[in-house]
Amino acid sequence: MKAIILDVDTGIDDALAISYAVRSPELNVLGITTCFGNVTVEEATRNTLVVLEHLDSEVPVIPGAGKPFLRQPTKGSTPHIHGEDGIGNTLKELPKRSAEQGHAAPFMIDRIQSQPNQVTVITVGTLTNLALAIQQAPDIVRQVERVVVMGGAVTVPGNVTAYAEANVFADPDAADYVFRSGIPVTLVGLDVTMKTLLSIEEMTNWRNKTSKLGPFLADMTEFYMGAYERFYPGIGGCALHDPLAVGAVIEPGFVKSVPMRLQVGLEGETLGRTTGTPDADANVAVCIEVDADRFLAHFLSRVC
Ligand code: BDR
Ligand code: CA
Repeated sequence: MKAIILDVDTGIDDALAISYAVRSPELNVLGITTCFGNVTVEEATRNTLVVLEHLDSEVPVIPGAGKPFLRQPTKGSTPHIHGEDGIGNTLKELPKRSAEQGHAAPFMIDRIQSQPNQVTVITVGTLTNLALAIQQAPDIVRQVERVVVMGGAVTVPGNVTAYAEANVFADPDAADYVFRSGIPVTLVGLDVTMKTLLSIEEMTNWRNKTSKLGPFLADMTEFYMGAYERFYPGIGGCALHDPLAVGAVIEPGFVKSVPMRLQVGLEGETLGRTTGTPDADANVAVCIEVDADRFLAHFLSRVC
């Protein structure tokens, strides 16, 4: 089993990624850390606990950053994509369980240092918590097994601006700090996630399930698909951004990557742009191909 920490800004595709990770016996989820992004950090923590309740999971949830690494916060929610509550307006009750005391960054440091070279960190929100962890304990750069980041758009256009992907755009300084730190990163960006689409037919099956999870995920995913249809008319589904980052840890063969030196745009119209220069010695492996059919079949077999 691979020990992982999943860092989220839950978010509909984050909810799908959490379900995929918790339901995969190859992974030992040490904890789920939360950050601002799709919603506020408080909402991300609440949503994560709600999702875990539907999964009957007791995985610890540790709240993290509520604002960017260096700059002032800007608009921090995406109701047009993820709903007013972040989970497609499915929120009915507050979670029964509370989050852990403490902060995401020290949690990451502690778990990485107590199992050197064993822990993989998967980030599917902003890179703020990881940047804070590296700033507080620079040695984790050599002690972590690997970081798998859902973020960036190196060979394709962005989804917030013409250049920038949402997770990098929301905290470009954190992304820049993480990439420059030398930490080993696999970048699962829009380059591959926009090729992993879940269709409405595949999702509709979830409603036939007797578990409480299936209809809950179907309701929120239907909302997400509506947003995709508005932004990308005729696309016929929604992108499984965050689940693909989890998939790339379970089965690295789902993706193919090229080592690149990454630069993050920090101002002007290129804010949040991720520019990659091929370099065999670089610390970032940028995923450029995905076996979408194999990944999708695996994801579906695990989630509902
Ligand atoms: C990323 O942005 C968020 O809205 C999604 O949850 C995903 O992590 C895609 O750009
Ligand atoms: Ca996310």
